[in-house]
Amino acid sequence: MTDVRIVDERTTDEHGRPFLPGMGKTWLMPIYDLFSRALGVGELHRRGVDAAGVAPGQAVLDVGCGTGNLALTLLEATPTAAVTGLDPDAGALRRAARKARRRRASLTLAQGYADRLPSGDGSFDHVVSALALHHLADEDRTAFAREAFRVLRPGGTVTIVDFGGPSPGPQDAGHEHGHAHDHGHDHGHGHGHGRSPVQAVRRLTRLLRATAEEEPRTARNYGNALVDLLSGAGFADAGEVAHVDRSFGRVSIVQATREDPAAP
Ligand SMILES: C[S@@+](CC[C@H](N)C(=O)[O-])C[C@H]1O[C@@H](n2cnc3c(N)ncnc32)[C@H](O)[C@@H]1O
Repeated sequence: MTDVRIVDERTTDEHGRPFLPGMGKTWLMPIYDLFSRALGVGELHRRGVDAAGVAPGQAVLDVGCGTGNLALTLLEATPTAAVTGLDPDAGALRRAARKARRRRASLTLAQGYADRLPSGDGSFDHVVSALALHHLADEDRTAFAREAFRVLRPGGTVTIVDFGGPSPGPQDAGHEHGHAHDHGHDHGHGHGHGRSPVQAVRRLTRLLRATAEEEPRTARNYGNALVDLLSGAGFADAGEVAHVDRSFGRVSIVQATREDPAAP
């Protein structure tokens, strides 16, 4: 039996609190999944899920879950995981719920904000998050890292997938390299005049990449920022475990464990 539910975990103060939606504007949310597919974001989710290594039955919190793509990828890999997705965007959560029901996956969706996780201390084995931290204000990112530490049980891990790591620099901008494959390749079906949908997506991704390194929200992720964020919250072993170079920027997978003082 599948169980999909949406719970409103906002405090009275958080009603009407602004947030930056997945596509920048809430009314663009219906095309989020289309856009995400066109950019091959699914590969990033799969890499994040591999890195997280969730075991059957473990409790996982996906922060900034949006339309549920990371959470659903995770449930595909580990169907018995107890997954909660958190996001302030009610429309995105409704979409995530519809997708979960269609796939007969059990998923709890909580409406709330990353800087105040509505969960008890030590209640999760994993905290995961994809492409969401660059949507948060600086002070909310710092609070999120502290909250992730608090809600993880000792020995639990946080896995972040987001723009980050050393900036590839302008000479690389717009090129694919590294160990991930771009599913947006033009396999010779283009028209040669820059008008095919594939070429349009390529142009858009070039633009996005330039934006990723210059736009202050994403630029602040580069360098060691994500690792420093987790270290600053008390995680002892924060580090990049993988990265994926995509046409729209370098994406880092950063992981850390909440140390277990009782571990040998
Ligand atoms: C680019 S989308 C990523 C969605 C999803 N994780 C994915 O990988 O497809 C960024 C998400 O962060 C969410 N977000 C924005 N501000 C937030 C906040 N303060 N707390 C939690 N999530 C937030 C947005 O609503 C949006 O769903």
